[in-house]
Formats: sequence, structure tokens, C-alpha cells
Amino acid sequence: METRANFGKIGVILATAGSAVGLGNIWRFPFMAGQNGGAAFIAVYIVCVLLLGIPGMIAEFIVGRHGASNAARAYKSFHKGRAWGAVGVLGVITSTIILGFYAVVAGWCLQYFFASLFGMVGGDANSVKDYFVRFTSNPIKPALWALAFVVMTHFVITQGVRQGIEKVSNILMPTLFVLLIVIVIASCSLPGASKGIEFLFHPDFSKLTHDVFLDALGQAFFSLSLGTACLCTYASYFSRRTNLSVSACQIALLDTGIAILAGLMIFPAAFSVGVNPDSGPSLIFITLPTVFDKAFAFLPFLGHVVAVLFYALLVLAALTSTISMHEIGTAFFREELHTSRRGAACIVTVTACIIAIVCSLSCGAVNGLTLMGKSIMDFCDFFTAQILLPLGSLLTCFFVGWVVPQTIVHREFTNWDTVSGRFYGIWLFFVRFVCPVCIVMIFLHQFGVV
Ligand code: ALA
Repeated sequence: METRANFGKIGVILATAGSAVGLGNIWRFPFMAGQNGGAAFIAVYIVCVLLLGIPGMIAEFIVGRHGASNAARAYKSFHKGRAWGAVGVLGVITSTIILGFYAVVAGWCLQYFFASLFGMVGGDANSVKDYFVRFTSNPIKPALWALAFVVMTHFVITQGVRQGIEKVSNILMPTLFVLLIVIVIASCSLPGASKGIEFLFHPDFSKLTHDVFLDALGQAFFSLSLGTACLCTYASYFSRRTNLSVSACQIALLDTGIAILAGLMIFPAAFSVGVNPDSGPSLIFITLPTVFDKAFAFLPFLGHVVAVLFYALLVLAALTSTISMHEIGTAFFREELHTSRRGAACIVTVTACIIAIVCSLSCGAVNGLTLMGKSIMDFCDFFTAQILLPLGSLLTCFFVGWVVPQTIVHREFTNWDTVSGRFYGIWLFFVRFVCPVCIVMIFLHQFGVV
């Protein structure tokens, strides 16, 4: 069996940030912000990241690095009862569901990348919408793109932790950042772009409702990959020298910065042509192609380049995240079934492909594929972001805050007393009280109790 690898110093940040940065930042964050009042949503989102996200990340890192194994074993490694392993198993289930429906959207991005490269998408709003509806309701094509994405992920995973995950993240993350900056500059230099910048940075708190809080929290969990056991699995590849709290802050900062840059890429362009970016999940597939066409009408070639770069950016971002979600299950099956990395990866790939096909069909080709009045695709998104992720995180906070002996937690937090533990008390307070109370309140609200 392969011995457990450790990420290098840069790999810790880039691979883990790669897991966090994904469609959540570039697809989900802008449409959520667009639907929920822009800056007010972003303000609540940042509070969620600071108060719940960072403490939750550190808690998952502690479990993962201490366990130095797959998520289920990591929770059991504290010898506090085998039942705690179920939290890790919950993470494996959650991440595989996310991988399945995420691959569908990632597949759309791949299709749009090629379509924009060959000038097949664009024109007036109706033809762009028509293109999207025809594509997503096709029973075969979107499913095939989704499968292609899962297979691409499978290939990286089978190369191993250092040669696959770390190497690919070290290349994709800087590329993604450069692409993002180029498009932000192009978008912000358009005439009338300042309205979009204002929409992002001038909060109107009268827009805040309970639902905005709920959406912001779900988005923070989704974006930081919290509650999926992803951070726990990646932390099992951290060395004893990795400063967990500093790494959590760096990753949260990168992730939030990239989400805001994604907003700066989309809103100024949308406002510059008078489009209100509140069209929901289809924002980047229906609204943006028209926006790029209109905004760069003075130089159509530039509009074309920006559109191609934009979808390339989405593909790269999606890939770094699907890799991390795949790795959770792969590490789990490899160690639990004592099988090879390739064999374990096959189990995850096949399961994710089945979920992806069902989700893809539910987007239009087969209308009856619904659950609780939502398409299977929307149901998976709702069920993971608003129930499974907060639940996973709640259980982890409770476990690290109340169940694991504090001597172990303190040792992990301070790297065996070699780095500062100045914020340990505050962090512990958040993990013990603030995070669980906030998550429970939000659940109660969701079920109509408060
Ligand atoms: N954290 C990943 C994202 O934001 C799932 O896309």
C-alpha cells in the first residue's frame, strides 16, 4: 500500500485553496449575491466566514492531521467511540453527492468553453437562452460532458497525492488567478462599470432577510468545503510543521478574495450593458454570453477572448474542487477496503457518474426526476449546502470542542507548543459555543421553529 504522502509548504495552501476555490466562487457566489442584494449579502457572507468558517476549518484540520488517515478513521483515532467515525462517513457521502451534481455544471462549463471558442454561443438574449435550454434538455450531451469531467478528475487522482493533486493544483491555481485578474481588468474598464462595483461594495442592509443569512451561511460552507470531510482528508497530508490556524486564515482569505474578484468580473460587465444580474443559477450561462457580446461590441474579438478565458477559468476552478471531493472517497475506500488507489478511485468515479447522469437528466431531459418539488439537481444542491454541510460542521465542532481531550486539541493547534497558541482560547470559545449555536439556530429557522 502507498505510504501516506505529505503536501509541500506551497502545496498545503494551493491544494487546499484549490479545493475551496471552485464553481462555488465563480458560479454560485455571484448569482447568490446577485439575487440577495449584492453588497449586503457579501457583508453577511464575510461575517459567516470569519465567525463560523475559519474556526470550523481549524477544527477539521485538527481531526485530519491527528488521524493521518481517511476521514472515518480520523474521527475514530481519538478513541472516543467508533460511532464518531460516522461523521467521516457522512463527509464521504456528502462529497460524493456534491461531486456528482458539480460535475454536471462543470460539464456545462466545458461545453461552453468549446462553444465560445468556436463562436457557437452568443448573439441576442433569446438565442443565448435557447442555446442553454436546448443543451441542458438534451438527454445525452450534457451527461457526456459531466462524465468526461469525472474521468478527468479520476485521472489526476490516480496519479497520487504529490504527483497528481499537488502538482495539478500548483499549476492550475496560479493560472486561474492570472485569468481572473485579466477578466476583472477588462470588465472594470468598461463604460458604466462603476454601477456594478457599487452594487458589490455599497451594502443596502434593508435587503437583509432571514433567507439571506441562510443563503450566506450555506454559501460559506459550500465555498470553504466545510463539513464535507475534505479539509479533514487534505489535513491528513499536512506535516507536523503546518500551522493550522495560519493556513486556515490564508485559505479563507484566498477563497473570499477570489469570490469577490469573481463578482468584480461579472457585475461591472453586466451593469455596463444594463443587465441586472439576478437571474439565479443560469446567470453565467444565459446572461453572461449576451453581456460579453454587448459590453465588448466596440471590439468583438476582445469579447470573444474574454468569453473563452472566462469558461476556461470556470473549468480550471471546477477541476481543483472535483479533485478534492474525489480524494475524500478515494482515501476512504483505499484504506477501508485495503485496495489500491486505482481501485478505490474507480468506486468513487462510478458512483459519481451515476449521480451525475441522474442530475443531468433532471435538468430538462426527464421532467419527472424531482424530489420535494425540486429537480434532483437542485435538490442535491439544496440538501448538501443547507443540510449536510452545516450538519457535518456542527458535529465536528461539537466533537473537537467537547469530546476530544483538550490536551490533544491544544497540541495540534500549537504544533506541539512550537507555534503561538495566543488565539486558542478565542477559537475554542467559537468552536464550543458560537458555531454550534449559530448552526442550530439556522437549522431551527429552516424548519420553521424560530
Ligand atoms: N468548495 C468548492 C467550491 O467552492 C466546492 O466550488
